[in-house]
Amino acid sequence: MKTKGSIALVTGANRGLGRAIVSALLEAGAAKVYAAARDPRKVAAGDPRVVPIALDTTKPEQIAAAANQAHDVTLLINNAGVATSQNVLTTSAAEIDADLHTNVHGTLAVIKAFVPVLARKDGGATIVNVLSLTALASFPPLGGYSASKAAAYSITQALRPELRRKHIDILAVLPGVIDTDMVKELQMPKTSPAEVAKALLAGVERGEEDIFPDPMAQEMGALWNKSHKELERAFASL
Ligand SMILES: NC(=O)c1ccc[n+]([C@@H]2O[C@H](COP(=O)([O-])OP(=O)(O)OC[C@H]3O[C@@H](n4cnc5c(N)ncnc54)[C@H](OP(=O)(O)O)[C@@H]3O)[C@@H](O)[C@H]2O)c1
Repeated sequence: MKTKGSIALVTGANRGLGRAIVSALLEAGAAKVYAAARDPRKVAAGDPRVVPIALDTTKPEQIAAAANQAHDVTLLINNAGVATSQNVLTTSAAEIDADLHTNVHGTLAVIKAFVPVLARKDGGATIVNVLSLTALASFPPLGGYSASKAAAYSITQALRPELRRKHIDILAVLPGVIDTDMVKELQMPKTSPAEVAKALLAGVERGEEDIFPDPMAQEMGALWNKSHKELERAFASL
């Protein structure tokens, strides 16, 4: 879909990749961007096209209110996410649940609320789920988080044929390591959120079902295409 002229809603828009996606959308000529955040006062102000909106993706009443207010959305970008759990042997069930709660149930709840909104758009609409390369193969130090992203990828696939009948495309974004708070402890090469956001929108323009928006993602994505086992081994050896 064309991002120029689109009316977008981005979750987790106050910092990290979400904030960069809002900037990239404005640069690409979006007509309006609902910048959704748990605390909308933290959304970058300045451009009149930005509409801050309160949205905790685990709170059903806030999701319903957001879908009601943002009834003109054509592009929904599910970016909000957490990485609470780590090594699956040592992390607690509660920590794994926290990742599933936001990354899987929260994302799905937002999609369900916005499908009726998006289905009304004559020219079609797009949902973008920001997942992770760990959706394709587990990164053992973040095994619980990886499981949540794999589940969200599976749900993305499950939704695709049904949404297609409603003229809604659903795309997965599978980034490598991005330089945000989420991975500040990780000592690895990282891509800037601005670069990832720009590549994400380029993937949306091309309608790519699986978007690999940074050099690590492209390299690991190519490996995954060649052999799923090789990607698993590569992550195990990082
Ligand atoms: N950084 C990476 O290396 C990397 C790699 C692959 C994929 N990703 C994915 O990229 C997305 C963005 O992450 P990031 O790197 O920008 O992380 P981040 O800097 O930690 O930002 C996470 C964002 O998600 C929001 N959020 C968390 N739980 C939420 C909830 N229940 N409701 C609404 N918003 C919520 C946070 O809001 P608060 O400010 O209120 O906490 C924040 O805006 C996530 O889905 C993440 O899994 C990141």
